[in-house]
Amino acid sequence: MDETNRRTFIKSGVVGGALGLFASSAYASSPTPKEIEGPFYPVMAQKDKDFDLTRIEGKEGVAKGKTIIIQGQVLDTDDKSVEDATVDLWQANGAGRYRHPHDSNKAPLDPNFQGWAIVPSGKDGAFRFKTVYPGSYPASDTWTRPPHIHFKISKKGYIEIITQMYFPGHELNDSDLLLKRKSKEEHKLMIASKVQDKPETYEYNIVLQKA
Ligand SMILES: [Fe+2]
Repeated sequence: MDETNRRTFIKSGVVGGALGLFASSAYASSPTPKEIEGPFYPVMAQKDKDFDLTRIEGKEGVAKGKTIIIQGQVLDTDDKSVEDATVDLWQANGAGRYRHPHDSNKAPLDPNFQGWAIVPSGKDGAFRFKTVYPGSYPASDTWTRPPHIHFKISKKGYIEIITQMYFPGHELNDSDLLLKRKSKEEHKLMIASKVQDKPETYEYNIVLQKA
Protein backbone atom coordinates (compact mmCIF):
# COMPACT_ATOMS: atom_id res chain seq x y z
CA MET A 1 0.00 0.00 0.00
CA ASP A 2 1.51 3.34 -1.01
CA GLU A 3 1.17 6.45 1.09
CA THR A 4 -1.86 7.86 -0.78
CA ASN A 5 -3.80 4.61 -0.57
CA ARG A 6 -2.87 4.20 3.03
CA ARG A 7 -4.19 7.69 3.83
CA THR A 8 -7.41 7.03 1.94
CA PHE A 9 -7.78 3.72 3.75
CA ILE A 10 -7.28 5.34 7.13
CA LYS A 11 -9.62 8.19 6.26
CA SER A 12 -12.41 5.89 5.11
CA GLY A 13 -11.89 3.77 8.20
CA VAL A 14 -12.27 6.78 10.44
CA VAL A 15 -15.29 8.05 8.53
CA GLY A 16 -16.85 4.58 8.49
CA GLY A 17 -16.25 4.20 12.18
CA ALA A 18 -17.76 7.57 12.94
CA LEU A 19 -20.78 6.80 10.77
CA GLY A 20 -21.20 3.47 12.48
CA LEU A 21 -21.23 5.18 15.83
CA PHE A 22 -23.66 7.78 14.57
CA ALA A 23 -25.92 5.10 13.09
CA SER A 24 -26.10 3.10 16.29
CA SER A 25 -26.99 6.14 18.38
CA ALA A 26 -29.39 7.55 15.78
CA TYR A 27 -31.39 4.37 15.37
CA ALA A 28 -31.40 2.99 18.89
CA SER A 29 -34.65 3.79 20.67
CA SER A 30 -35.22 5.11 24.15
CA PRO A 31 -37.17 2.79 26.40
CA THR A 32 -40.83 3.66 26.98
CA PRO A 33 -40.99 6.15 29.88
CA LYS A 34 -42.30 4.79 33.16
CA GLU A 35 -45.32 6.12 34.96
CA ILE A 36 -46.97 5.32 38.28
CA GLU A 37 -49.16 2.23 38.47
CA GLY A 38 -51.99 4.24 40.02
CA PRO A 39 -54.52 2.94 42.54
CA PHE A 40 -56.67 0.81 40.23
CA TYR A 41 -54.54 -2.17 39.22
CA PRO A 42 -57.08 -4.99 38.81
CA VAL A 43 -57.65 -6.97 41.98
CA MET A 44 -60.75 -8.92 41.03
CA ALA A 45 -60.18 -12.13 39.14
CA GLN A 46 -62.06 -12.66 35.90
CA LYS A 47 -62.16 -15.49 33.44
CA ASP A 48 -62.23 -13.38 30.32
CA LYS A 49 -58.98 -11.50 29.84
CA ASP A 50 -58.72 -11.71 26.08
CA PHE A 51 -57.90 -9.00 23.53
CA ASP A 52 -61.56 -7.95 23.08
CA LEU A 53 -62.49 -5.76 26.06
CA THR A 54 -65.80 -4.70 24.50
CA ARG A 55 -67.49 -8.04 25.25
CA ILE A 56 -67.45 -10.42 28.15
CA GLU A 57 -67.62 -14.11 27.36
CA GLY A 58 -71.09 -15.49 28.05
CA LYS A 59 -72.83 -12.09 27.96
CA GLU A 60 -74.92 -10.71 25.11
CA GLY A 61 -74.19 -7.01 25.56
CA VAL A 62 -71.46 -4.77 24.23
CA ALA A 63 -69.50 -2.22 26.25
CA LYS A 64 -70.78 1.38 26.05
CA GLY A 65 -68.65 4.00 24.34
CA LYS A 66 -66.58 4.41 21.21
CA THR A 67 -64.95 1.18 20.07
CA ILE A 68 -61.29 1.57 19.25
CA ILE A 69 -58.36 -0.65 18.31
CA ILE A 70 -54.93 -0.28 19.82
CA GLN A 71 -52.09 -1.95 17.97
CA GLY A 72 -48.35 -1.85 18.15
CA GLN A 73 -45.10 -3.69 18.58
CA VAL A 74 -42.98 -4.55 21.56
CA LEU A 75 -39.38 -3.72 20.63
CA ASP A 76 -36.06 -3.51 22.39
CA THR A 77 -33.78 -0.46 22.40
CA ASP A 78 -31.98 -1.83 19.31
CA ASP A 79 -35.33 -1.81 17.45
CA LYS A 80 -35.51 -5.62 17.44
CA SER A 81 -38.95 -7.07 17.99
CA VAL A 82 -39.70 -8.81 21.28
CA GLU A 83 -42.05 -11.76 20.95
CA ASP A 84 -43.95 -13.43 23.81
CA ALA A 85 -43.85 -10.36 26.04
CA THR A 86 -46.77 -10.11 28.47
CA VAL A 87 -48.79 -6.97 27.81
CA ASP A 88 -51.03 -6.44 30.83
CA LEU A 89 -53.40 -3.50 30.45
CA TRP A 90 -56.27 -1.94 32.39
CA GLN A 91 -58.39 1.15 31.97
CA ALA A 92 -61.53 3.06 32.99
CA ASN A 93 -64.72 2.32 31.06
CA GLY A 94 -66.23 4.75 28.54
CA ALA A 95 -67.73 6.80 31.40
CA GLY A 96 -64.45 7.06 33.33
CA ARG A 97 -65.01 4.39 36.00
CA TYR A 98 -62.74 1.48 36.95
CA ARG A 99 -64.17 -1.77 38.19
CA HIS A 100 -62.15 -1.52 41.36
CA PRO A 101 -63.29 -1.36 45.00
CA HIS A 102 -61.29 1.83 45.62
CA ASP A 103 -62.75 3.80 42.72
CA SER A 104 -65.21 6.26 44.30
CA ASN A 105 -66.05 8.02 41.02
CA LYS A 106 -69.84 8.38 40.66
CA ALA A 107 -69.76 7.41 36.97
CA PRO A 108 -71.60 4.13 36.32
CA LEU A 109 -69.98 0.73 36.02
CA ASP A 110 -70.50 -1.01 32.69
CA PRO A 111 -71.45 -4.68 33.15
CA ASN A 112 -70.30 -5.44 29.60
CA PHE A 113 -66.87 -3.87 29.79
CA GLN A 114 -64.03 -6.29 30.44
CA GLY A 115 -61.84 -3.63 32.15
CA TRP A 116 -58.49 -5.37 31.79
CA ALA A 117 -56.73 -7.83 29.53
CA ILE A 118 -53.51 -9.72 29.20
CA VAL A 119 -52.31 -10.07 25.62
CA PRO A 120 -49.00 -11.61 24.55
CA SER A 121 -46.90 -10.03 21.83
CA GLY A 122 -46.69 -12.36 18.85
CA LYS A 123 -44.71 -12.51 15.62
CA ASP A 124 -42.61 -9.36 15.12
CA GLY A 125 -43.53 -8.32 18.66
CA ALA A 126 -47.01 -7.32 17.47
CA PHE A 127 -49.96 -6.95 19.82
CA ARG A 128 -53.49 -5.70 19.26
CA PHE A 129 -56.60 -5.25 21.32
CA LYS A 130 -60.12 -3.91 20.93
CA THR A 131 -61.58 -1.71 23.63
CA VAL A 132 -63.57 1.48 24.21
CA TYR A 133 -62.09 4.97 24.33
CA PRO A 134 -61.60 5.43 28.08
CA GLY A 135 -63.46 8.24 29.83
CA SER A 136 -61.65 10.98 31.72
CA TYR A 137 -62.15 10.95 35.49
CA PRO A 138 -61.53 13.15 38.53
CA ALA A 139 -58.28 12.41 40.37
CA SER A 140 -58.94 15.28 42.82
CA ASP A 141 -61.21 18.34 43.07
CA THR A 142 -58.92 20.29 40.75
CA TRP A 143 -57.46 17.59 38.51
CA THR A 144 -59.17 15.54 35.81
CA ARG A 145 -57.15 12.75 34.27
CA PRO A 146 -57.17 12.66 30.47
CA PRO A 147 -58.19 9.39 28.82
CA HIS A 148 -55.39 6.86 29.22
CA ILE A 149 -54.66 3.14 29.34
CA HIS A 150 -52.38 1.62 31.96
CA PHE A 151 -49.79 -0.94 30.87
CA LYS A 152 -47.44 -3.34 32.60
CA ILE A 153 -45.15 -5.05 30.11
CA SER A 154 -42.80 -7.84 31.05
CA LYS A 155 -40.57 -10.42 29.48
CA LYS A 156 -37.79 -12.49 30.99
CA GLY A 157 -34.43 -10.83 30.31
CA TYR A 158 -35.94 -7.31 30.10
CA ILE A 159 -36.73 -4.63 32.67
CA GLU A 160 -40.47 -4.57 33.40
CA ILE A 161 -42.18 -1.31 32.47
CA ILE A 162 -45.28 0.14 34.10
CA THR A 163 -46.62 3.08 32.14
CA GLN A 164 -49.67 4.90 30.81
CA MET A 165 -50.64 5.47 27.19
CA TYR A 166 -52.42 8.67 26.16
CA PHE A 167 -54.49 9.74 23.16
CA PRO A 168 -53.32 12.34 20.65
CA GLY A 169 -54.88 15.79 20.72
CA HIS A 170 -56.98 15.36 23.85
CA GLU A 171 -57.67 18.71 25.53
CA LEU A 172 -56.85 17.37 29.01
CA ASN A 173 -53.36 16.15 28.05
CA ASP A 174 -51.78 19.58 28.55
CA SER A 175 -53.11 20.05 32.08
CA ASP A 176 -52.51 16.52 33.37
CA LEU A 177 -50.24 16.62 36.40
CA LEU A 178 -48.51 13.35 35.42
CA LEU A 179 -48.06 13.98 31.70
CA LYS A 180 -46.93 17.58 32.34
CA ARG A 181 -43.88 16.26 34.21
CA LYS A 182 -42.65 14.45 31.09
CA SER A 183 -40.45 15.99 28.40
CA LYS A 184 -41.53 16.56 24.80
CA GLU A 185 -39.45 13.54 23.78
CA GLU A 186 -41.21 11.40 26.37
CA HIS A 187 -44.60 12.64 25.16
CA LYS A 188 -43.80 11.17 21.73
CA LEU A 189 -43.31 7.77 23.34
CA MET A 190 -46.36 7.96 25.60
CA ILE A 191 -49.02 9.45 23.30
CA ALA A 192 -50.32 7.00 20.69
CA SER A 193 -50.76 7.95 17.02
CA LYS A 194 -54.08 7.69 15.28
CA VAL A 195 -53.52 5.60 12.15
CA GLN A 196 -57.04 4.85 10.90
CA ASP A 197 -60.59 6.21 11.23
CA LYS A 198 -62.78 3.14 10.67
CA PRO A 199 -62.37 1.32 12.92
CA GLU A 200 -60.69 4.07 14.93
CA THR A 201 -57.18 2.68 15.36
CA TYR A 202 -54.23 3.89 17.38
CA GLU A 203 -50.63 2.77 17.15
CA TYR A 204 -48.56 2.50 20.29
CA ASN A 205 -45.14 0.86 20.35
CA ILE A 206 -43.48 -0.24 23.55
CA VAL A 207 -39.70 -0.27 23.93
CA LEU A 208 -38.15 -2.52 26.57
CA GLN A 209 -34.63 -2.34 27.88
CA LYS A 210 -32.57 -5.51 28.37
CA ALA A 211 -32.09 -6.39 32.04
FE1 LIG B 1 -55.92 5.59 35.45
